Amino acid sequence: MSCQCAVEDGLQPDPKEIKLGEILAKYKQQKGALIPVLQETQEVYGYLPAEVLRRISFELKIPLSKVYGVVTFYAQFHLNPRGRNIVRVCLGTACHVRGGAKILETIQKELGIEDGQTSEDLRYTLESIACIGACGLAPVIMVNEDTHGRLTPDKLGKILAQYE
Ligand code: FES
Repeated sequence: MSCQCAVEDGLQPDPKEIKLGEILAKYKQQKGALIPVLQETQEVYGYLPAEVLRRISFELKIPLSKVYGVVTFYAQFHLNPRGRNIVRVCLGTACHVRGGAKILETIQKELGIEDGQTSEDLRYTLESIACIGACGLAPVIMVNEDTHGRLTPDKLGKILAQYE
């Protein structure tokens, strides 16, 4: 008997696509729908894949160039996959004078990615940011919702390893 996996796979509806269909149906007739559609779609996919943006453009009858204009204007939207853990390195003034740049450099080496990039295994996304309001603990990083302060480069490996 021949294997039916491919056939069966072909019949499986993609749950993300179904959700996207629901989002588009909900907003289709509404004015100013683009931003909420993009926000909800990003919640489903974790980012905004190119083919999804094409579908949004088509369904909402908004030129693709305008869709990209909005996506690239707002920092909340992401065109590439994001890591499971978002590592933010503060480069605000207090952190900078206490060695923030060295912290960033060490993390870049440790993770093998540059500022703004995501590791291939999607474990980490690395971003530098301005002051996060914990200057008394400088230099500071955030991993997801956790703040880690008074850092030295030698502490970083252990901290990063906690995040699967
Ligand atoms: S400058 Fe880094 S927390 Fe304020």
